[in-house]
Amino acid sequence: MRKLVRRPRRLRRSPSLRNLVRETHLTSHDFILPLFVSEKIRERRPIASMPGVVQLPPHEVAAAAAQVCAAGLEAVILFGIPNDKDEQASGAHAEKGVVQEAVRAIKKECPDLLVITDVCLCEYMSHGHCGVTRIDGEHFHVLNDESVELLVKTAISHAAAGADIVAPSDMMDGRVGAIREALDATGFEQTAIMSYAAKFASAFYGPFREAAESPPQFGDRRTYQMDPANANEALREVALDVEEGADIVMVKPALPYLDILWRVRERFDLTTAVYHVSGEYAMVKAAAERGWLDEEQAVLEIMTGLKRAGADLIVTYWAKELAEWTRR
Ligand code: PBG
Repeated sequence: MRKLVRRPRRLRRSPSLRNLVRETHLTSHDFILPLFVSEKIRERRPIASMPGVVQLPPHEVAAAAAQVCAAGLEAVILFGIPNDKDEQASGAHAEKGVVQEAVRAIKKECPDLLVITDVCLCEYMSHGHCGVTRIDGEHFHVLNDESVELLVKTAISHAAAGADIVAPSDMMDGRVGAIREALDATGFEQTAIMSYAAKFASAFYGPFREAAESPPQFGDRRTYQMDPANANEALREVALDVEEGADIVMVKPALPYLDILWRVRERFDLTTAVYHVSGEYAMVKAAAERGWLDEEQAVLEIMTGLKRAGADLIVTYWAKELAEWTRR
C-alpha cells in the first residue's frame, strides 16, 4: 500500500491560504503607546537611545494624543518628568503635577482615548528609587509601607484628574490592595488597576531611564524588582495582585520572559498585558538603522510572538506604526 505523505505545506501555498489558517491576528486595539511629558522643556526633545521617541512639553500633549486617536489606537500610558525632585516625590501626587495636568489635557482633547498612568515615584525622587529610602551607614533601604502611602496618594490624584486606568510599576508589596481600597473609598470605584505584577530587575530598562530621567543615583532596584531567574515567584507575585484586586496584570520586559507570560495567561483568567520595553526597542532600532534587520517585519514578528504567547495587550513604542502596519 502506498504510504500516506502528510503535506502541511498544502495550506501554505498562497497568501489567501495562509490568511485563512492564521491563528494569531494583530490589530490596532492590541497596542498601548507610552508618552513622556516633561515640565522642564518648551519643545519636543528626542531621546538619543530611543530613535523616534520624544519627551513632550506639556503644551504639546493634547496634539500628540489627537494623533494617537487618529492612528486608531485606544490607549496611551503616561510618564511624567517634573521640574523638581525631592525625597518625598511631591511631584508624583501634586494636584497640578505634570501627569495630572497631562491627563486633563488629553481628556479634554480626546475624551474617548483611554488614559493609563504609570504610578511610580522614581521620576519624582531626588535619588531615583521607586520608593522612600532610608540610609543607614553603608546600606540603603527602600521602605515598603511608607512608599505605598505615597503611591496611593499618587494613584488617587491620577484618578481625580480623569485617568481611566492606574498602573503601579513600583513593585512594593501590598500596593495594589492599598490603591484599590483607597480608590473605592474616594468614589473612584470605576478606575481600573493594571498592575506591573511580574516586573523583573532588567538591563533592558536602560534607555527608558534616559527618557524618564529616572536612573537610581545609588544602588540598584533588585530589592524590589524581581530576580530574572525566578518563574514560580513571578506566579506568586501575580497571584497576590489578582487577590488584591488588579483588573489587568502585566509581565515586563517581554521577549526574555515569554515563558512567564505564557504561564500567567494559562493560570489566571485575567486580561494579561506585556511591556515590550525600551531596551528591546533600542536593539531592533539599532540593527535596523544599520540595515541589519527589516524593522517592520521584525516588529510584526515580535508582536505576533507576544500575542501568541498570551498577551492580550502590548505596551510598545511602536504602537503608532503598528496601527498602520497591521491595517495592510
Ligand atoms: C518606573 C518604570 C520603568 C519602566 C516603566 N516604569 C523603569 C524602571 O523600573 O527602572 C521601564 C519601561 C521601559 O524600559 O520601557 N519604575
